Amino acid sequence: MSAASAKGPPPGAPATKASAPDANPSDPTAMNQRWQIRVRNLNKTFGPQHVLKGVDLDIERGKTNIIIGGSGQGKSVLMKHLMGLLKPDEGQIWVDGVDLVPMGDVEIARLRRKFGMVFQYAALFDSMNVVENIAFPLLERYSLPREEVMERVRDLLRRLDLADVPGIEQKFPAELSGGQRKRVGLARALIDRPEILLYDEPTTGLDPIATKNVDEMIRRTADQFNVTSVVISHDMASTFRIGDRISMLYAGKILVTGTRDEVLASHQPELREFVETSGAVVMGPAANPPRPAP
Ligand SMILES: Nc1ncnc2c1ncn2[C@@H]1O[C@H](COP(=O)(O)OP(=O)(O)O)[C@@H](O)[C@H]1O
Ligand SMILES: [Mg+2]
Repeated sequence: MSAASAKGPPPGAPATKASAPDANPSDPTAMNQRWQIRVRNLNKTFGPQHVLKGVDLDIERGKTNIIIGGSGQGKSVLMKHLMGLLKPDEGQIWVDGVDLVPMGDVEIARLRRKFGMVFQYAALFDSMNVVENIAFPLLERYSLPREEVMERVRDLLRRLDLADVPGIEQKFPAELSGGQRKRVGLARALIDRPEILLYDEPTTGLDPIATKNVDEMIRRTADQFNVTSVVISHDMASTFRIGDRISMLYAGKILVTGTRDEVLASHQPELREFVETSGAVVMGPAANPPRPAP
């Protein structure tokens, strides 16, 4: 069985729901054409520290969804919940209408094949060459013929403009440039044909030019591979350049969520300060000033 045929709707997603999308768009438990992931009332504590305090978040299918927020606000913790790497204390996370919170390890592992994760510093294995690094998720999950694995790896090397680098297949991470390493990390995230790509601060520590290159890579990947992207970022220039939807995590909740224009017109003082302090983006006039308390 090929990896592709091992995919399809996860068990527990009733065919009737999947074939009748948006029957009730407000029902987060229904398969929904627009929202691929729906998070409700997510709570997570670590010991005495209450990190997520009732997060509600919708991730739009096929779009670039950006989560912004200050350092230590719980962005990485939230992202880990989306693919079932952390269990919440309370709350629901529906992926295509199926709640992953009550799932056991086997079911979660199967659901996780919908996801690809791009780590901050590519997180390649130093002792493996480029081919071994990219193929790793396939080798871990399936026993595919070597030719098929190589075909998929080479296809990605071509599509990510790495095929022309001499000897690329046998190179080790230490022999690659920063940009090449990022693309190899992306290839590894894409090798099992995910529907959803998660990026945790992909531009941290990069100069403005390299940041722009990564932005282009994210946008191009979204179009070329037709994926839903979820990007954690604290880079405002980058956020407003590539984000279709932007959500701000603040004090354990999603403070603001919306399209670029909606967010730029937000009245929330914490959001306005966060965006304006960056100096990279100018907020518009607040379109929705808070109503005075009755
Ligand atoms: N596995 C863990 N155990 C205990 N505390 C954690 C763990 N993961 C994250 N935290 C804490 O949760 C808070 C939010 O972390 P994180 O999500 O990494 O923030 P950021 O928004 O910078 O990504 C931090 O105070 C961090 O120390
Ligand atoms: Mg983080």
